[in-house]
Amino acid sequence: MEKIIINGGIPLRGTVEISGMKNGALPILFASILVKGKCVIENIPAINDVYISLDILQQMGVSVRMIDRTTVELDATHAVGGTSPISLVRQLRASYYLLGAELGRFGKAYVGYPGGCDFGVRPIDQHIKGFEALGASVTLEGGYIEATSEFGLTGASVFFDEVTVGGTMNIILAAVTAPGTTVIENAAREPHIVDLANFLNTCGARVRGAGTDTIRIRGVDALHGCTYAIIPDMIEAGTYMMAAAATGGTLRINNVIPKHLESITMKLQEMGVDIVEDDDYVIVSSSGKLRKVNVKTQPYPGFPTDMQPQMAVLMCLASGVSFLNESVWDNRFKYVEQLHRMGASIKIDGKTAIVEGGVPLTAAQVSAVDLRAGAAMVIAGLAIEGKTEIDGIHCIERGYDDIVGKLRAVGADVKKVVVPDGMPFGMMA
Ligand code: EPZ
Repeated sequence: MEKIIINGGIPLRGTVEISGMKNGALPILFASILVKGKCVIENIPAINDVYISLDILQQMGVSVRMIDRTTVELDATHAVGGTSPISLVRQLRASYYLLGAELGRFGKAYVGYPGGCDFGVRPIDQHIKGFEALGASVTLEGGYIEATSEFGLTGASVFFDEVTVGGTMNIILAAVTAPGTTVIENAAREPHIVDLANFLNTCGARVRGAGTDTIRIRGVDALHGCTYAIIPDMIEAGTYMMAAAATGGTLRINNVIPKHLESITMKLQEMGVDIVEDDDYVIVSSSGKLRKVNVKTQPYPGFPTDMQPQMAVLMCLASGVSFLNESVWDNRFKYVEQLHRMGASIKIDGKTAIVEGGVPLTAAQVSAVDLRAGAAMVIAGLAIEGKTEIDGIHCIERGYDDIVGKLRAVGADVKKVVVPDGMPFGMMA
């Protein structure tokens, strides 16, 4: 088993380089299935979710050639639909993008039910509603989702009952080659949706309005290959911003789009953190004294749900009582139990965490219960004096490129160790 061990209490100082956005890279990699030709995708993050996605594509007959650590060449000319291996598909939530991509390319799709972090029920009813509007019929049987369209897909209007990132992206993927015009209303507005639209338009698609709540797609006959670079990961950047705030340090965070960080920046400034923005970097500095704050997670441009666990840690370190409302997911407070092990005083009332700040936290042995919860444990370990041990770190490595290396480079005393299974925590080096 692998663990991350942190000796905390050290203010972080230095420069962090942000990698490409996980939640933008995954749909774009799967979107390559739509293209009979070569696509070169640059600035992909070196994370496990990307490697699993590339493995799925390769097993579907897509030629995959890593050009360097963050650049891959894909050619889906000979891709075969309905052949994604369920053992890999089940490991990712993003594998549901295979549905839209296979429908857009082959007019039908056959994909195992997706996996992903466990926040309670993660339905795909809105994806299905969109596919059916385009003329597909969708059945769920034996752990697989099958979509067929006897007469092929045609453009249609889709109104989402729920703002859904995945649903918005999936309907774009299915609609780009559907004859006619598709209009998506109540669409999600995340920057990575704009990134997907920009990638597809670079391949010859006609997607307009991405980033707003109304997206219009005019179907084209075929897409051609292209070269495209993924946008920086705003959640990775936000995580390092919070690490600087939590440790009372100063970090220059390079390769960011400050506009994407606006809600995070505003909340950190409310807590007393100094933030300087420039074209493609931010400088975050903190005395370590943080003020309480109230946060409600919302779809972009609101405060991102993927920063919620990390914010809870900052609230524990702040003075006063803070309120943290999770409005996107049903059950995204599983990590609170781990913070309780560190002495945190947090009560959950429905979808709101009430965080009593100023209660001293103590280093402990904790688990990464999901990707962003794991990042929150890392931030807590960095802030607290003493040795924090985190297991379940495969969750963290799904979405953070070289987190240990990037933290060590700014002064953190952190390492990854392999512990033979069955060895008690305390006996580690
Ligand atoms: C994406 O998940 C991200 N995952 C999540 O990030 C992120 O938390 C989420 O968007 C919101 O920003 C990936 O991109 C791989 P949604 P997704 O569809 O697409 C409900 C991370 O840490 N809903 O926007 O699955 C749903 O239950 C991960 O990187 C329906 O009701 O999220 C939720 O309440 C965790 N029906 C809300 O919408 C549907 O058909 C938002 O879900 C689809 C969604």
